Amino acid sequence: MINIKNFKELLQDRHPHSAIILGSGLGAVADSIKNPLIIKYSDIEGFPTSTVPGHKGQMVIGTMGKHEVLCMQGRFHLYEGYQPIIIRDMICSLKQIGIERLVITNAAGSLNPDFHPGEIMLISDLINFSGLNPLVGPNDNELGPRFVDMSSANDLEIRNQFKQIAQKLKITVHEGTYLMVTGPNFETPAEIKAFRVLGADAVGMSTIPEIIAAAYCGIRTVAMSVITNFGAGMQKEKLSHEQTLECAAKGAASLTKLIKAYFSEV
Ligand code: HPA
Repeated sequence: MINIKNFKELLQDRHPHSAIILGSGLGAVADSIKNPLIIKYSDIEGFPTSTVPGHKGQMVIGTMGKHEVLCMQGRFHLYEGYQPIIIRDMICSLKQIGIERLVITNAAGSLNPDFHPGEIMLISDLINFSGLNPLVGPNDNELGPRFVDMSSANDLEIRNQFKQIAQKLKITVHEGTYLMVTGPNFETPAEIKAFRVLGADAVGMSTIPEIIAAAYCGIRTVAMSVITNFGAGMQKEKLSHEQTLECAAKGAASLTKLIKAYFSEV
């Protein structure tokens, strides 16, 4: 159990209403936060800690544009061995400290020949192919309902705001369906072919449990992928986490611009 009282105490006088979750290699987005207060995940009683290279395991709270934001540098992947319910509890803890809006980022492989490495895809719909769900287990009716409607889990209004801002900034953003696998291995070429037939545009190993948990506890969410590679079999080069981190770092520049502009204008 995450100790909410302890979490609130660590936040001192900060009251962020928006949170940002940064994916692999995208930690630099937090560098543009002004007047930062840093809280290590390990300092929050009961909070999980991140084990993947490229994930710092801390939150940076401060000002971005017109808003006070809480930025998570490092997330929890199911392939690390966490129980999925930990993601429910982590997201619900954000709700309990006052978060109302969530911007989720990730690095993903493209299944759509028109979506190239370095470009951004706003997530309009989801295919949960992980076989796992953060809401499995006894339900706490105080946190959210047993059966959650996912039809507007990817908030259309926020997504449209991002699209408009991207257009103004001349940043290419696509829109598409994100499919989640558990990982940690990259997909086989046959899996990539199958996922394309299913209608997915990008594949990754995160994000969907966070969106499900946010829909559950009533946080409005927008999610976006930085495309770091084409799926297995669609490109000549071998896939590696190093390539993910390298390409994500390149895409991070436009992602930072986009997120900063969003919090400055909205
Ligand atoms: N597959 C799954 N996850 C990923 C990929 C991929 O090709 N690229 C970045 N994250």
